[in-house]
Amino acid sequence: MNLFPEEMRRDPYPLYDQMRSSSPVLHVAPLDLWMIFDHEGVKRALTDHEAFSSVVTPVTGKAPDWLIFSDPPRHTKLRAIVMRAFTARSVAALEPRVREVSRELLDQQIERGEMDLALDYAGLLPTIVIAEMLGIPLADRARFLRWSEAIVNLSYAISGGDEAERMMSEHAAAKDEMEAYLAEVLKARRRAPKDDLLTRLVEVEVDGERLTDDEILGFFQVLLAAGTETTTNLIDNAILCLIEWPEELARLRASPDVLPSAIEEVLRYRSPVQIAFREARRDVEVHGQVIPAGKLVVPVIGSANRDPQQFRDPDRFDIGRDPNPHVAFGQGVHFCLGAPLARLEARIALSDLLSRLRGLELASKEPWEPRKPLNMLGPARLPIRFEPGARSAAAG
Ligand code: HEM
Repeated sequence: MNLFPEEMRRDPYPLYDQMRSSSPVLHVAPLDLWMIFDHEGVKRALTDHEAFSSVVTPVTGKAPDWLIFSDPPRHTKLRAIVMRAFTARSVAALEPRVREVSRELLDQQIERGEMDLALDYAGLLPTIVIAEMLGIPLADRARFLRWSEAIVNLSYAISGGDEAERMMSEHAAAKDEMEAYLAEVLKARRRAPKDDLLTRLVEVEVDGERLTDDEILGFFQVLLAAGTETTTNLIDNAILCLIEWPEELARLRASPDVLPSAIEEVLRYRSPVQIAFREARRDVEVHGQVIPAGKLVVPVIGSANRDPQQFRDPDRFDIGRDPNPHVAFGQGVHFCLGAPLARLEARIALSDLLSRLRGLELASKEPWEPRKPLNMLGPARLPIRFEPGARSAAAG
C-alpha cells in the first residue's frame, strides 16, 4: 500500500475503507510502522498514553522535545504554560480582530471576482492571528509560511529515503533562521515585556526554572505550525465540501445557524490532520494483533472519522450530523489546544466567504494539488471564481 502518491493524498478514503474492513491494524513492513484505521483502535492509541507514548522516534532520529511529542508528567507541565492563552474565554476576546483580518483580506480580492483561496485567504488568516498572539510583527509573511511548511514537512520523517533526508535538511536550515530571529525577539521581550505569548514563555517558570531559548523555540514551532496549516486546510476543505455538495451549501445559506455543526462535519468528512504519531511503550495488542514495543504507530484519524461502525452513512457530507463523535482534534491529554481558536477562525471565515462571495465555484477543472505534508489533507492551491461583491461586509 502506498499512502504517498498525489492521487491517494487527494482522496485516501477508498483505501481507508478497504483497510478498515481487511486489516484495521496493519504492519507496513517497508517502513516498519503500524497503522490503525478503525475508530475504536485510533481512539485507544490517542488516549492510552500508558501503552502509546507521544515521544516518538522517527527513522531519521529522535523526536524533538515539544509539547506534542511529550508524555505526562512533563506534558502536563508544558501544556499548562500555554493553556491560558487558548481557553474559550481568551479566544473569544480575539473575535473582533479575527473579523477585521478576514474582512481586510477579502477586501483585497473581492473586486477581482476570482482568487486563490488557499494562497490569498485561507493560508493568511490563521498565520496572521497566531503571529499576533505570539507577539511577532507580520512584516514578512512569506518567511512565516515557509517556516511553518518546513515544520509540518517533518512528517516525511516516517517515510525515510531521499525525500525524508531533503525535508530534514530544509527543516534544519529553517530552524537556524528561526533561532537567530527568536534570539533577537526574546532579548527585546526580556528588556521590555509585552502582553503576548512570547513574553509569557520568557517569564514562566517550570519547577522553579525559566525555559531555555531552545525550549521556547520548541513552543514557537509547535504553535506556528499547528496554528496555521491545520486551520488553512479546514477553511479550504470546507469550501471544497460545500461546492461538491450543493444541496448542503443551499441548506447552510438558508439556515446560517447550522454553521458550527457544518464545521464539525468538515472536520469529520475531510479531516485537516489525517494522522497522528505514537510509539508502543510495550507489546500492545489491538484487535488481535500485537504491536511490538518500540514500534512507530500511526493512528489514522481521517479513516476513524469515516468508520461505519461509528457514523451512519459515513461517506455522506451532512452538515446537520448529530451525534458527530469525530476525532479530528485528537482525544485525551493531547486534545488539540487550539480547537476553540480553529473553530472561531473557521466560523468567521466561512460566514464571510458565504455572505460576500456569491455564485462561488472552482475556477479550474483540474484535480487540486495536495499540500506537501504527509499528515495533512487539503489543497496547496484552490482557485475560485465568484460574483464580485461589495468591498466591505458592512457596505455589502
Ligand atoms: C482545524 C484545525 C486544527 C486541527 C484539525 C488540529 C488537530 C490537532 C490534533 C489531531 C492534535 C492531537 C495530536 C496528537 O494527539 O498527537 C492537535 C494538538 C495540538 N494542536 Fe491542533 N489542530 C488544529 C488547530 C490548531 C490551532 C489553531 C492551534 C493553535 C495554535 C493548535 C495547537 C495545537 C497544539 C499546541 C497541540 C498539542 C497539544 C498537546 O500535545 O497537548 N491546533 N491538534
